[in-house]
Order: sequence, then C-alpha cells, then structure tokens
Amino acid sequence: MDIPQALIDTCKKRMEPYPAEGFLIGGGNPYADVLFVGEAPGEHELISKQPFTGRAGKELDKFLESAGISREDVYITSAVRSRPYKIVRKQKGEEVVIKRPNRKPTKKEIIAHAPILDYQIEKIDPTIIVTLGGVAYERLTGKKDKMTEIHGEAQKTKILKLKNTKDNTLVYGMKEYILFPFFHPASVFYNRKLEEMIYEDAKALAALIQHETS
Ligand code: URA
Repeated sequence: MDIPQALIDTCKKRMEPYPAEGFLIGGGNPYADVLFVGEAPGEHELISKQPFTGRAGKELDKFLESAGISREDVYITSAVRSRPYKIVRKQKGEEVVIKRPNRKPTKKEIIAHAPILDYQIEKIDPTIIVTLGGVAYERLTGKKDKMTEIHGEAQKTKILKLKNTKDNTLVYGMKEYILFPFFHPASVFYNRKLEEMIYEDAKALAALIQHETS
C-alpha cells in the first residue's frame, strides 16, 4: 500500500527519541475488508519486510489456515512500525555481550506512530478490524480489558485516532467498526493451553467475515 513519504518521514521523526529500529509499513491486500492490527514488528519482519513472518507469524498462519482465512485476502499492520528493543548486557567470561531483545511498545511509541495506522485505517476502510493482542486492542478501543475475557467476540465500536500531532491525544472518530479481539499469536509461547481457544476464535472470525463481507 502506498503511504505518502511525508507521513512516513513524520512518523520516523516522532520515533527518534525512543529505542526502536527499522520501519515496516505492513502487508497484504490494500483493498481488503479485514484489517489485522498487531503490536510491532520483530527482527525477522524487518528483514523479510513483511509482517508476522517470524515465530509468531508461523502461529498466526496456522490459526488462519485452520479457518480457511487467506493472508492474500486481508491486510496486516501494527500499532508501531519499528522494532522496540531493550538493551541487555551479559558478562560472558572476559567479554560483555550486548543483546537487544524485543519489548512491548510504550504508550509514547504508540502515539509516535499513530498517524500512520490512522491513515491506513482510513484508506483501507475495513469492515472488520482484528486486533492481535492487548496492545492493538487498547490502542484502538482505549480499553484495558483482559484478553481472556473479551477474545473471540465481535464488538461494534468507535475507534481512537490521533487528534493532531501537536497535543498527541487519542480521540474517538465518528465511524463504528466491527472489532474482533484476537489473542496475539505469540501468547501461545507462554501458555500452550490457549491454543485450542484460539483455533475456536479463528473459526468464529471466519464465520464473521463470511457474514459481514459476502
Ligand atoms: N508481532 C507483531 O505484532 N507484528 C509482527 O509483524 C510480528 C510480531
């Protein structure tokens, strides 16, 4: 999908104060009825230049395939487009090894990249927005609901967008969307028991897509 270079430059500039690297636009069908919103790319995604192509992506593919949802029919983006990292120093014998593992994006980072997600939502104008995990869910709804309590059930809701780049507050837009809260696919790495539930949710999502878009 084409994003105005000025908007990309603005978002990159807004992210400069924070420890994050790279920049990924998103991927898939820009005319899709269904938009998936993740958290932030990882190292793998920055190399492949496609969202969800690392370990979490393999899980996502399994869930989508099980429900007959094709990546080619949806668009996938995220709340933050750069990879937020933390710096971890480890003493290994004489040497200090520095690692930069992923971390969750902060509120400030989410706000820094808000204009680009807002732009994509406006352009794609999806019928259904699927939030992958709590970060995307909170970014769009403003709610801190527990994923275990709300997953797999569609909500009709207005969504948050940046009021303007000066005061940096998120405000609700006028339009209502069908929002479907989905677990972040990486959540199965921490709790394998979620897997069965996520397969069920994928089925419910496929039924929702069928009902709302055909
Ligand atoms: N998590 C995300 O939110 N996006 C990716 O592309 C990969 C992992």
